[in-house]
Amino acid sequence: MNDMQFLDNAYILIEDSMIKEFGKETTERMNDLRKHNPGMMELDAQGGSVFPSWCDAHTHLVYAGSREREFVDRINGLSYQDIAARGGGILNSAMRLRSASEEELFDAAFLRIHEMIRMGTGAIEIKSGYGLDVESELKMLRVIRRLDASVPVAIRATFLGAHAVPAEFKNDKSGYIRLLTDQLMPRIAEEKLADYCDVFCENGYFTAEETIEILEVGKHYGLIPKVHAEQLSHSGGIQSGVVSGAASVDHVEFANEHDIELLKSSETMPVLLPGAQLFLGLPAPPARKMIDAGLPVAICTDFNPGSSPTGNMNQMVSLACILYKMTPAEAIVAATTNSAFAMGLSHTHGSIAVGKVANLFITEPIPSSDYLPYYFGKPLIKNVILNGAQHF
Ligand code: NIG
Ligand code: FE
Repeated sequence: MNDMQFLDNAYILIEDSMIKEFGKETTERMNDLRKHNPGMMELDAQGGSVFPSWCDAHTHLVYAGSREREFVDRINGLSYQDIAARGGGILNSAMRLRSASEEELFDAAFLRIHEMIRMGTGAIEIKSGYGLDVESELKMLRVIRRLDASVPVAIRATFLGAHAVPAEFKNDKSGYIRLLTDQLMPRIAEEKLADYCDVFCENGYFTAEETIEILEVGKHYGLIPKVHAEQLSHSGGIQSGVVSGAASVDHVEFANEHDIELLKSSETMPVLLPGAQLFLGLPAPPARKMIDAGLPVAICTDFNPGSSPTGNMNQMVSLACILYKMTPAEAIVAATTNSAFAMGLSHTHGSIAVGKVANLFITEPIPSSDYLPYYFGKPLIKNVILNGAQHF
């Protein structure tokens, strides 16, 4: 993760929205390219640096309303769990989402994605999980599929019906799990509405055993497992994820040594979400221990109205450096290459490589790549290229 390679005075040749070649910019090479590609458009980086677009492998950016009241409640001493116990938290968002139209949800999410594009993000995973009933979960997933067809970034969809137990199943959690596995999953598979299945494995939400049970049925329907793991307490989510062959286990604030050993024996990517950790005042995940043990980690936003109302990957990269003592190189790799892996886009996104999609951003002139997370107040991005086309 510390091995990030740079090229000074470089060019990148893009053709059919893909990176076709890159290398040192010499007068000879440029003349040759111009001769062989008549009509080629040229964009001068004007002394800026070119990076692969951020990959955000964990968001809940389809939602209705906002939750700033809960933000103030936490300032006044309540915890995330206290608020959830009063019917706030995820259930508060579920209430709002159920009464929102597909059109309203689409429009709001479309705007959020365009803000993220401006901030350099080129691939986004989006979860359901604020519907918590058959029609509302399908509504969310259809919005995600429509977004995929309408925005220039790569989108991956995750079914997170097991985000919380809705009020109408308060005393019948197994009934709710059956609704997810027997009613929702067949519909999702039939309409091809999701790529992944995620579970919030946590005290008061879903147990480690229930997590495995749900993920196994999801696999039967072609959904790749993911887990919200060890966020508020050590609940066994990492173990459930590894056992199920999860693509990622996310949050992991309470991961322990045993979890690190488990992860080392797996292909599962730990995804760190410094926005949610900071916003909820949680302890930091053992990022340094993981990296020093030889594990990769990814960094993402967790963009959602309750625990991380931000889609700003630049800020997450800075927080990873400041809060987790990750080097700028480690944090940038975590937010590009490793987060692309966490959403199955390694072959097409997450680095500047021949044959990958030309999703890039160009910074203002900066003295070094370390300057990017160092100057943490605002994104230093001047231009955004997606699928080879300039968007800013
Ligand atoms: O990733 N941990 C569970 N899910 C979200 C929070 C969702 C919410 O509060 O609305 C998270 O932090
Ligand atoms: Fe989340």
